[in-house]
Amino acid sequence: MSEIYIGVMPGDGIGPKITGLTLPIVEAGAEMAGLHPNFVHIPVSGEAFDQTGEHLPDSSVTAATKMDAVLKGPFGGPPNSDDPKWQGLEKKAILPLREKLGLYANLRPLKILGEIGVHLSPLENRIAQGTDLMIVREFTGDAYYGDSDHGVDEETGERWAYETIFYKESQVEKIVKMAIKLARERGDKLSWVHKTNVLEETGGLWRAVVKEVAAEEGMAYETIGYSHVDAEAAALIGKVKTGTIVTTNMFGDILSDEGAQVIGSLGLGASASLAKNDFGLYEPIHGSAPDIEDAENANPIGMILSAALMFRHSLNRPEVADVIEQAVADVLDDLHLPADLYAMTSGEIEGLVAKKVTATEFGKLVLEKIKKATA
Ligand code: IPM
Ligand code: MG
Repeated sequence: MSEIYIGVMPGDGIGPKITGLTLPIVEAGAEMAGLHPNFVHIPVSGEAFDQTGEHLPDSSVTAATKMDAVLKGPFGGPPNSDDPKWQGLEKKAILPLREKLGLYANLRPLKILGEIGVHLSPLENRIAQGTDLMIVREFTGDAYYGDSDHGVDEETGERWAYETIFYKESQVEKIVKMAIKLARERGDKLSWVHKTNVLEETGGLWRAVVKEVAAEEGMAYETIGYSHVDAEAAALIGKVKTGTIVTTNMFGDILSDEGAQVIGSLGLGASASLAKNDFGLYEPIHGSAPDIEDAENANPIGMILSAALMFRHSLNRPEVADVIEQAVADVLDDLHLPADLYAMTSGEIEGLVAKKVTATEFGKLVLEKIKKATA
């Protein structure tokens, strides 16, 4: 058995619950692949703040860099809290964590889950049916990391503020290469999404680099789709979406939330954030859900599917990822639903009565399916 090291950042709110219930699933998947997982707890965000006064202590970053992969729960406290523990987490913990771990590609696959999937989507079946999209989001640039400032005009007294969108060709090059590789693996069409009609500078750079990388990689530029982000947002709910999209940090953020809603709920969105040498951080795309009082009412699917992505993208065991993904779909097809999906469907799908299950129960049901599949 090869030893593997997996960092576990439980995070805040529902984070400890959904990461905790995912570990036995990872164990079962690893066992199937002849891997022995060592889980290493890494305190971050609220937990780290309580211990050290910092949301992202260097010791946590160093620990993470020693891992083969990291499973991360969401960060964040109650909205509008004036407790310093919960203030500015994005800039104090989330973005620096991405930067320090060198995570440059954020993959957000969005696929209808199982037979039941179309009934979870708020869209009509004819549109929801067959949704199978991979959003490849650039993760190091854009207004997320650009210059910013605010002030007051001395003459007029008017307040001003700005955040700049900045891209370097190396950033675009890396993400486009990754997207071409993924589109080829998936056997689907690559499109790039931008807003070149207004953002001429960064849009122009992206266009030039997409062309160059396509030429280098032997993909004809004419076969690559292109759309403006506003049109893409409309298309996402207007027609069946398949394929691989490569886009900027900000547009990827927005389109992936929309895409997760298309397949049913933000709770279903999984992500892989990749650095070099197959290192990756795996987390659901939703937040810590401070509004959910009892974490058993959380939807653990985004977290469990993120663990599946870890097997595919960091541990080089795509067959385990397939088994976990199928197990989740099968549990849903048995009409066992976490609280949010249960409420959304009013407990009834196509005349069949669904059963509401806790997050922990859902995890156990997934585990049973995996064990059955691998027995
Ligand atoms: C996400 C989140 C983050 C982002 C926030 C919390 C900084 O929305 O991972 O999609 O915008 O990247
Ligand atoms: Mg987001």
